[in-house]
Amino acid sequence: MSSNAATAPALYRPESEVLLASTFGSQPIWKARLEERGLTVRLPGEDVSKVELGIVFNHPLGVLDDVPGLKAVQSLGAGVDFMMEDPGLRGRGVPLLRIVDPLMAERMATFCVWATMNYQRKCDDYFRAQMESRWDKSVENYKNVDNHEVRVGVMGLGLMGGRVARTLAGLGYEVSGWKRLPPSSGESSDDLAGVRVYHGEEEFLTFASNAQVVINLLPLTTETHGILNARLFNAMPRGGAVMNLARGAHLVANDLLEALASGQLEHAVLDVFVKEPLPPTCPFWLHPKVRVFPHMSSVTDIPNGVEQIIRNRELVLKGAPLPLGVVAEPGRGY
Ligand code: GLV
Repeated sequence: MSSNAATAPALYRPESEVLLASTFGSQPIWKARLEERGLTVRLPGEDVSKVELGIVFNHPLGVLDDVPGLKAVQSLGAGVDFMMEDPGLRGRGVPLLRIVDPLMAERMATFCVWATMNYQRKCDDYFRAQMESRWDKSVENYKNVDNHEVRVGVMGLGLMGGRVARTLAGLGYEVSGWKRLPPSSGESSDDLAGVRVYHGEEEFLTFASNAQVVINLLPLTTETHGILNARLFNAMPRGGAVMNLARGAHLVANDLLEALASGQLEHAVLDVFVKEPLPPTCPFWLHPKVRVFPHMSSVTDIPNGVEQIIRNRELVLKGAPLPLGVVAEPGRGY
């Protein structure tokens, strides 16, 4: 018998149900795992009269409007932007909760190491040569580009961005970071040792002019919508690379296509899109300078996420405080 089933504590208030609404292909797995832990899981269109917790990711807007007893809404991931965009949730006053998992930050950091290295070592050109059975040692022009020569700029220095910046700095890259807000009084720079941090609009273009590789990990808010645009690309050193690993709406797609066509940018890694799944007609799919990924750079670990949801649900139902970082701040937008 599985030790989990034998040792799992009894579910707090089993009569309190949850509504699961996401566009995740893994939704049936989430549902099964939540049910294994004793929850009654409703799907959109089903009876929601006993639902007290919404569990969502890119949910159909309005799906929570008719849940009379809603006490909180839990994201299946680290982001909560799609909740902030739900007009039915605005003003409802229920806490909006995220998954907080240091392993997600580690996963993101590892992906960024790959993405930076892939650009730095021109691995896509080696792959093209391989596809033509061509032994080509000239791909890097017989010139080593070592980590300390690559200037990486990380936009957003929260749980994800901070971890990415520290990891790349630890590997010897010259790393800078950009935060939208001015430094707060209690801010400690200790945990970002070795990372030059720029703040606010005033320092944005200086940050950009120092970053050959820009990695975007900002939360999506009104202020950061479309921030990956021609202004940023043109301020970067020529031949740079942009990695968008946060949200599709951060990027102005036509500006990126133009920057790639002119050679101002050499490379892009896109893991997030305004419309997901990315439609087959999108020019990014077959673009030789773009790597497209299906929103996978850092995905929530389902067993871990389920345990966080069970814990958060119980704290919400008991009216107890939630762990640090779990509750989003609507005023801030994330
Ligand atoms: C993924 O995009 C997440 O928000 O966890």
